[in-house]
Amino acid sequence: MEKAIALIGFGSQAKTWALNLRSSGREVRVFLRENSSSQLLVREMGFKVFLLKDIKNHLEEIEFLCLLTPDHTHREIYQEHLALLPYLNIVIAHGWWPWSEKLEKKNLKHSVILLAPKCIASEMRFRYETKAPLGAVYSLELAQESRELEIGVLTLAQQLGLTGVYPASIKDETAADLFSEQVILCSTLPYIAKESYDWLVAKGVPEQLAYLECWFELKLIVDAMIKKGPVGFFNLISPNALYGGEKARELLIDENFKIKMGKLWDDIEQRKIVQEINNTDIEALRKKVIKKWQESSLTKHHNNWENIKE
Ligand SMILES: NC(=O)c1ccc[n+]([C@@H]2O[C@H](COP(=O)([O-])OP(=O)(O)OC[C@H]3O[C@@H](n4cnc5c(N)ncnc54)[C@H](OP(=O)(O)O)[C@@H]3O)[C@@H](O)[C@H]2O)c1
Repeated sequence: MEKAIALIGFGSQAKTWALNLRSSGREVRVFLRENSSSQLLVREMGFKVFLLKDIKNHLEEIEFLCLLTPDHTHREIYQEHLALLPYLNIVIAHGWWPWSEKLEKKNLKHSVILLAPKCIASEMRFRYETKAPLGAVYSLELAQESRELEIGVLTLAQQLGLTGVYPASIKDETAADLFSEQVILCSTLPYIAKESYDWLVAKGVPEQLAYLECWFELKLIVDAMIKKGPVGFFNLISPNALYGGEKARELLIDENFKIKMGKLWDDIEQRKIVQEINNTDIEALRKKVIKKWQESSLTKHHNNWENIKE
């Protein structure tokens, strides 16, 4: 009989992992810190909840221990709760901790296994339920060399609904993840949408229309990019969109843009980003960013639109 899967934390990824694993027939045990605000939710969702400090009593019944708390907590949780325990298969969903700490196999008592879904948590559940393809990468470079372990990891991936699972180094996974967040996903995508929205509004375009053009249409266009693929997409768009897109590409994505992209890459590759993030009060930054977006009329139109849909 398969052993249970332990999840540490019950945030975005952990909830999805718990649901998908249960749907695949795996026993899931959730381990939380004392006084965790998630205890009730875990129980309401029908999972067994335990205290992280008691994890030592479960080791014989657990195959993988998945550390699904925010990346900056991994080191501390490992040191406080796991480091002294007998051999463990620890799974992480992103390589930040071993990469930023320069962990080396020779100094590790446990296996640290990377299994990184390339997907936000909500989409991972949706894609599991709809049997849609979902990519991930894994690395066993900090793990015990064992074919059995690799089979176990690939089985776990399959039970999570990950359909395309490729080997990758921890360094590559971490650097690529940071780079795509910085250059596309969490910067140019939302901020160019907002800059364009603000521009149109300043030129007298009604806010509702500017919202639909610059934000709402993003999802539709990205859906088409993924559904049709690059060739299908550029075959599909209108002559004006094709001409305008190429004109703007030449103007906007110039040598200067590439130099800036290079600077972001260098800061990742040389690990300057580790120092920067460690020296930043992330919660204060989040509050500042949220306030800016709350004050934007783009957000007001988004909320209106969401209410209309319901
Ligand atoms: N979010 C995504 O879609 C996504 C996608 C791919 C990979 N990942 C990776 O998945 C991992 C988890 O990310 P996430 O976004 O799911 O995290 P998250 O939602 O922010 O995790 C929150 C959970 O972590 C617990 N937690 C926070 N600090 C803790 C501590 N010091 N000790 C014990 N528990 C603590 C919280 O406990 P309480 O309940 O007690 O507050 C909560 O249950 C990360 O490695 C991330 O890079 C995430």
